[in-house]
Order: sequence, then structure tokens, then C-alpha cells
Amino acid sequence: MDDAPFSLDDGEDFRSNNDAIPEHAARVAMLGELMASIAHEVSQPLAAVLANANASLRWLDRSEPDPEEAKAAIQRIMREATRASEIINSARQFAMKGTPTRTAFDVNRMIDESIDITRRQAATLGVSLTARLMPGLPPLVADRTQIQQVIINLVVNAAQAMAGQSGRRAIELSTGRDGDDLIIEVRDTGPGVGPHPDRIFEAFFTTKPNGMGMGLSVSRSIIRAHGGEINAHAGALGGTVFRIAVPVTEPTCED
Ligand SMILES: Nc1ncnc2c1ncn2[C@@H]1O[C@H](COP(=O)(O)OP(=O)(O)OP(=O)(O)O)[C@@H](O)[C@H]1O
Ligand SMILES: [Mg+2]
Repeated sequence: MDDAPFSLDDGEDFRSNNDAIPEHAARVAMLGELMASIAHEVSQPLAAVLANANASLRWLDRSEPDPEEAKAAIQRIMREATRASEIINSARQFAMKGTPTRTAFDVNRMIDESIDITRRQAATLGVSLTARLMPGLPPLVADRTQIQQVIINLVVNAAQAMAGQSGRRAIELSTGRDGDDLIIEVRDTGPGVGPHPDRIFEAFFTTKPNGMGMGLSVSRSIIRAHGGEINAHAGALGGTVFRIAVPVTEPTCED
């Protein structure tokens, strides 16, 4: 009983001395993952910039150039370049503060916009994209850019998983509510994720020849930093369902 305070003090010293090193190591490890995640997330809009730049050159090089089509492609270039810089900004802020930058936004609009961004890529792979959005959802208070990155990662994965498949190739995005959680689901008609649906979330796990295996690992970090969870399970009619649950924190008075 006598030495209880003594050992408590001792314990505290021990902990604070030792914490400094793992904390530094954890930060270095985190920066490594951050680099890999920025490389992964920015490569998608960059690929879109290149594809659209090529498209606009082709429209202008025709025997009868079509400036309107070229202009539309240039506008897509601007949108994708803006998105790339937003991704870098939000990753930088996250690295500095350790927490996401939160604003209140309409999840359904963010989903519609994500479909807009991925539609062309999905169409190239013969994949249809549809949405089933619940009206009247409360705004989500979260880092919009990051949550959108997660949705885009899931859609791109689903489209890639179905590329070349002979059956129906469809992706459906849906929103809903479960108690205090806002739910976003991305379901596909692909081959499924097999008996170990959690392995795919490990960093560097990939079954693709040119994959980094970063998409789902980054996505899970983002959702967890928002106090939420993301999981995969088999769909009732086959395919895979990715389910994101993020707590809805009612926005405090913002004037
Ligand atoms: N919708 C899906 N259907 C089937 N398998 C999937 C699906 N989504 C992901 N996977 C599996 O999970 C693995 C990991 O996905 P993840 O996005 O983390 O990396 P990746 O897509 O392989 O590479 P990248 O770093 O380019 O995203 C994929 O290689 C694939 O095997
Ligand atoms: Mg991926």
C-alpha cells in the first residue's frame, strides 16, 4: 500500500521516456504510408488529365476540328487537376494536424459527383453506374475530399474486378441511415472477394499485375479517422458489397 504511489510515479516516468521513440517511429511510418497514399490517390486524376489532354488534341487535329469537344475535355482537365491539388492539400493538413478537415456537406450530392467523375472510366470497361440515394439525410460533417476518394477507390476497384467478365457488369451506389450512422454502400456484380474479405484491406495486398494494393488500406484509414468503419461482404445475389458507416455528428451552430 505504501509503495503504490511510488510505483505509479515510476510507471509514469517509464512510459513517458519510452513513448518518445515509438511516437517518432510511428510518425516516420505514417509519412511512408502517406507518401504511398498520395502517390496512389493522385495517380487517378493524373491519368484522367492525360486521357483528356489526348482527347482534346485529337478533336483539334481532325480534318474538321471540333473546338466544343476540345473545350469540354479541357474543362475536365481543369476539374481533375483541381481534384488532385485538393487531395494533396487534405493529405497535408491531415499529416500536420492528425485529424481530417471537416465541413458539413450533402452526401448524396457528393455521390452524384463521384459517379460523374468515374462514369467515363467505367463505361470504357463496359460497366454501368447507378445510384439509389435516400432523400432527407442529415449533412455529413467530414473531410469531403477524403470521403470522395474512398468512394472513387471503391468504384474503380469494382469496375476493374468486372472488366472482361461475360455476365452483367453493374455498380450501384446507395445511401441510407442506421441509427446514428450514415451508410454508404457500393455493390457490384463482380467475382466477389473470396473467403477472407478482410485481407483485401491490408496495405500492399493486391491481385493485380500493376496494383499498389493501397486503395482499400487508404480508404479504411480515412474512414476510421472519421470514427467510422468500412467492411466488405458477399452480396445476396453474388458480387461484393462494400459498406461504410460513419457517425453523423449533428453540426454545431455554424454562423
Ligand atoms: N469490388 C471488388 N471485387 C473483387 N475484388 C476486389 C474488389 N475490390 C477490391 N478487390 C480485391 O482487393 C485487392 C486490393 O484492392 P486495393 O484497392 O487495395 O488495391 P488494388 O486495387 O489491387 O491496387 P491499387 O493500389 O491500384 O488500388 C484487389 O487487388 C482485388 O483483389
Ligand atoms: Mg484499387
